[in-house]
Amino acid sequence: MQPLIEQIDKQKLPKHIAIIMDGNGRWAEEKGQERLYGHYHGVESVRNIVEGCAEIGIEYLTLYAFSTENWDRPQSEVDGLMSLLVDTIRKEVPILNKNNISMHAIGNIEMLPKDAQKALAEAIELTSKNTGLHLIMALSYSSRWELVNAVKNIGLDVKAGKINPAEINQNTLQQYLSTSNYPDPELMIRTSGEFRISNFLLYQLAYAELYFTNTRWPDFRKENLFEAIIDFQFRERRFGKTGKQIQNEAYLA
Ligand code: IPE
Ligand code: IPE
Ligand code: MG
Repeated sequence: MQPLIEQIDKQKLPKHIAIIMDGNGRWAEEKGQERLYGHYHGVESVRNIVEGCAEIGIEYLTLYAFSTENWDRPQSEVDGLMSLLVDTIRKEVPILNKNNISMHAIGNIEMLPKDAQKALAEAIELTSKNTGLHLIMALSYSSRWELVNAVKNIGLDVKAGKINPAEINQNTLQQYLSTSNYPDPELMIRTSGEFRISNFLLYQLAYAELYFTNTRWPDFRKENLFEAIIDFQFRERRFGKTGKQIQNEAYLA
């Protein structure tokens, strides 16, 4: 059997993969440990998956690390996650630089504790010259927050006379989203056996292929990622057209 990495068609890679990293808490509880133990181990998976993406030439990877709704978890878990975030970001910068990866963030960053905001801003700045994989951390992010924010800002610009409401189109809205600099994800992966989107990139995932796996995030490794990509490559993306039209277009290309 050919190794998984060699089964991937490099000409048909998704440009942008988005992942809902789920199942850390259950992974820990199943081992009789505190939930935070799962979050600590989840960092190993982040490292491994980022490396896997860089290795095969993925251009954008968005990781859902903390949602707007996650602020409602017990304070001890939120505090533990925030300090893990600061430590991890600081530790990872040299590795990101070594692998030519730039760090980005989407979400309501102002909600994060000051030290996390500082670590994040530093990491973004220190990796900004890298030209390989764009690693986008979704932190204090939710789609509904993002869309409300976009509508508010569009309203302000209409009021200031910068845009004409009659001319607002999909392109305008896209520019007001926190993902305006990135293409839409083509593949969305969620770990841990939950079959929902949980307020993640609702607008941007309109035509993404969805891949769900029972594997808990702390057990998710490159091989699991490569399986998801291979599965993606066997799908026919139709964008509202018929299968026949898509096959003709592929034949003519
Ligand atoms: C995902 O794992 C990480 C975060 C949401 C921060 P969970 O913490 O949601 O783990 P489960 O879903 O409870 O197992
Ligand atoms: C989604 O996972 C958010 C992140 C992975 C950061 P949750 O565990 O918070 O989602 P629900 O509550 O199961 O929908
Ligand atoms: Mg969860």
